[in-house]
Amino acid sequence: MMMRLQVCPSVLPLSALCRPAWPLPRVLGARRCSSMPAVRHAVYPDHSRMVQAFSEIPGLWRNGLANLYNFWKLDGFRNIHRVMVHNFKTFGPIYREKIGYYESVNIIKPEDAAILFKAEGHYPRRLKVEAWTSYRDYRNRKYGVLLKNGEDWRFNRVILNREVISPKVLDDFVPLLDEVGRDFVVRVHKKIERSGQGQWTTDLSHELFKYALESVGSVLYGERLALLRRLGAKIWRDHVEAWDGIFNQADRCIQNIYRTMRQDTSAQGKYPGVLASLLLLDKLSIEDIKASITELMAGGVDTTSITLLWTLYELARHPDLQEELRLEVSAARSSSQGDVMQMLKRIPLIKGALKESLRLHPVAVSLQRYITEDIVIQNYHIPSGTLVQLGLYAMGRDPGVFRRPEQYQPSRWLRTENQYFRSLGFGFGPRQCLGRRIAETEMQLFLIHMLENFRVEKQRQMEVRSTFELILLPEKPILLTIKPLHSS
Ligand code: HEM
Repeated sequence: MMMRLQVCPSVLPLSALCRPAWPLPRVLGARRCSSMPAVRHAVYPDHSRMVQAFSEIPGLWRNGLANLYNFWKLDGFRNIHRVMVHNFKTFGPIYREKIGYYESVNIIKPEDAAILFKAEGHYPRRLKVEAWTSYRDYRNRKYGVLLKNGEDWRFNRVILNREVISPKVLDDFVPLLDEVGRDFVVRVHKKIERSGQGQWTTDLSHELFKYALESVGSVLYGERLALLRRLGAKIWRDHVEAWDGIFNQADRCIQNIYRTMRQDTSAQGKYPGVLASLLLLDKLSIEDIKASITELMAGGVDTTSITLLWTLYELARHPDLQEELRLEVSAARSSSQGDVMQMLKRIPLIKGALKESLRLHPVAVSLQRYITEDIVIQNYHIPSGTLVQLGLYAMGRDPGVFRRPEQYQPSRWLRTENQYFRSLGFGFGPRQCLGRRIAETEMQLFLIHMLENFRVEKQRQMEVRSTFELILLPEKPILLTIKPLHSS
């Protein structure tokens, strides 16, 4: 499997931090109250019941080191998502866990997620990932928005929001991303031609990785990395080899863009990309811009490419659904007369398919917050400062939350089912995924182009489970056969 560039800390459940090779610092900010303070946002499912103490929450939290040992013995690191499902089955909708020195409360119900996010405070904080902050400290690099906290995070995030996630940026992003999508189609046609078999059977993960890198690169830098046009390019290796490569690449792009901004007046009117827009805006320091751009670049590749891979896997397993989506795309294309922005507004089932992929195969196994006030969940008191995790993978497969959860049904997102705090693949609130708009658009355009040009089939009866390697990956390669719809 391809080397992972970087993964948002957001996608890491608590237990992932307890790999023995890693240092095991104490959880910061986990303050415990012995007394029972006033509780806000409390939900009392049964008013006659006394709220139970924190120490009454069921779970494995009394002996962190023994839990760590057992977790390791059961190969829990690769199976974190399944371990969480198992724990919810054993303990119910809330459990406490201590693995090594890390401690958390885990929840699964959408209504409880609502309580959690209300208590995230003005500066929401996720689990701190020492391995990544250590790298920055070691290299003396600044943290970007992914790793910053407090007022510094908020200041940067508000400015980045405008350039990266506000609805207005779509007008600028769509033409760039659409071009990458069209190039991908050309590339697949070439692969089919080269195969000499009229079809192409492959593990698409490398190609999707390039597609995602090219997409995010084009939006951030306003220019193409041309990965899809060149095979084995040096720039590609720079990107995948390590963080060093990513930082160097960001450095080079910043220098290029500076040079262009000084020399090139002819490019006026053309969207220059997120990086140049931030430089022109002149509200963040260059070091801050560089740090966040680098994180956007690195965090925006595996996430979308793996989600697309899972989606193709599901579409290959459901040919009728694939056909239904193709019809939706075709109707959207003709009714919007080629206007891609309009088209994106007319593909609800495609959007449902992506939500469904994230429900069954979420990039993030859990979402986490350190709560900033005392809350009551499932009638248990949880003190301010506690790390609370919402088990996203477990929630997506819980029959109490989703009807027939094992079935891939994009139409469930159209209207029929309750959607309250159920679609959380990109997180929630002011700390939600900054790249969400890029990711959604990039993935929608990918599916549009693929469905308009190819049929995707599976090799044989194929059931692929996921394994946890910082994000959820297919346990084995997913081999797909891609056939052109029309002879070229
Ligand atoms: C399928 C695609 C993606 C998924 C499912 C995903 C998921 C997530 C999740 C769950 C979070 C944490 C949110 C929270 O704690 O509430 C997050 C944060 C983040 N994501 Fe994504 N992500 C995706 C794609 C991207 C892309 C394409 C980029 C960059 C272009 C990106 C950049 C970030 C950044 C910078 C953060 C941290 C934001 C902050 O801390 O303020 N992500 N993502």
